Amino acid sequence: MVIDMKILGIESSCDETAAAVVEDGKTVLSNIVASQIDEHKLYGGVVPEIASRRHCENIHTVVTGALIEADCTLNDIDAIAVTYAPGLIGALLVGVSFAKGLAMDTGLPLVPVHHISGHIAANYISNPRLKPPYMALVVSGGHSHIIEVLDYTKYRIVGRTRDDAAGECFDKVARTIGYPYPGGKSIDDASKRGNPEAYTLPHPHVAGSEYDFSFSGLKTAVINLVHNSLQKGEQLNYDDLCASFQKTISEILVSNTIKAAADSGYKTIAVSGGVSANSGLKKLLSDECRKCGFEFFCPEFKYCGDNGAMIASQGYFDFLSGKRADESLNALPTLPITEV
Ligand code: KG4
Ligand code: ZN
Repeated sequence: MVIDMKILGIESSCDETAAAVVEDGKTVLSNIVASQIDEHKLYGGVVPEIASRRHCENIHTVVTGALIEADCTLNDIDAIAVTYAPGLIGALLVGVSFAKGLAMDTGLPLVPVHHISGHIAANYISNPRLKPPYMALVVSGGHSHIIEVLDYTKYRIVGRTRDDAAGECFDKVARTIGYPYPGGKSIDDASKRGNPEAYTLPHPHVAGSEYDFSFSGLKTAVINLVHNSLQKGEQLNYDDLCASFQKTISEILVSNTIKAAADSGYKTIAVSGGVSANSGLKKLLSDECRKCGFEFFCPEFKYCGDNGAMIASQGYFDFLSGKRADESLNALPTLPITEV
């Protein structure tokens, strides 16, 4: 194990320009996130061209801020880790180009990090006791995966969504109701005031793939309920609808994950990604884990959504496994975590 290794992590795959300095994969010395949410909110979702432009404008300040907050200069950094896949191509390219420039200028090693590996590593920061192997549920705006984490850099995809990601489903339901982008937090807040038993919603299953998810049927059911009621001039109780939706999507995510862990003989489950901030999902997964005698891990709130610390953390493990990139590194909009 390399001791006191400081990694600068850079993340720009979607609408957060983020950088952090993390020591030995778990001790966060700084974590700076410049969120673009307020601007994308005006359009009801992320506008890729705007995201790229804002990353260009923010990246220098964010990376400099991460070094200052960590009380470091580039001379104290041992390697630069950057998200290179998957994500919005124009957004990813900003972080990748900046990281390549820094690496070439300083001679520091460049470590390419997969965004989902980064979400998984968020748990090593918040829960240093967590060690592979275990079963992970990664739920974000772009991904819903059940992943067997065989080692810090080795994975097997056990289940995935066939259509919408869980976060996307939260965001689309929220938009239909009239809540601002991104909708997960608004639905979570409304759910706390509502009755989760008020509406019975579908629990779609994917025939022949017991661990895969399909959320489009659930999303359409909620959207149709809202539209039909508006056409009839009736007002639904949105707090009840949000609570029922949140309960249903949580039940789907939790039942597949618990089954995947049990069938593979794991007694540890770790959830991460933006949707892991959801209070209903966290409670249900933690309750079910307790019932099954499983250990449950979740990142602290600040490491659930996109951030640079999770990239620096995973960068440490990728560095130790020998992963390196040079100036030919390119950004990739799609890349399975098993092909890193
Ligand atoms: O991981 P993330 O920040 O970005 C991606 O990699 O996609 O995840 C963003 C997603 C959004 O869809 C957002 O609505 C969702 O995470 N989210 C939540 C909550 N907070 C953020 N979903 C449900 N409940 C929340 N409290
Ligand atoms: Zn993410």
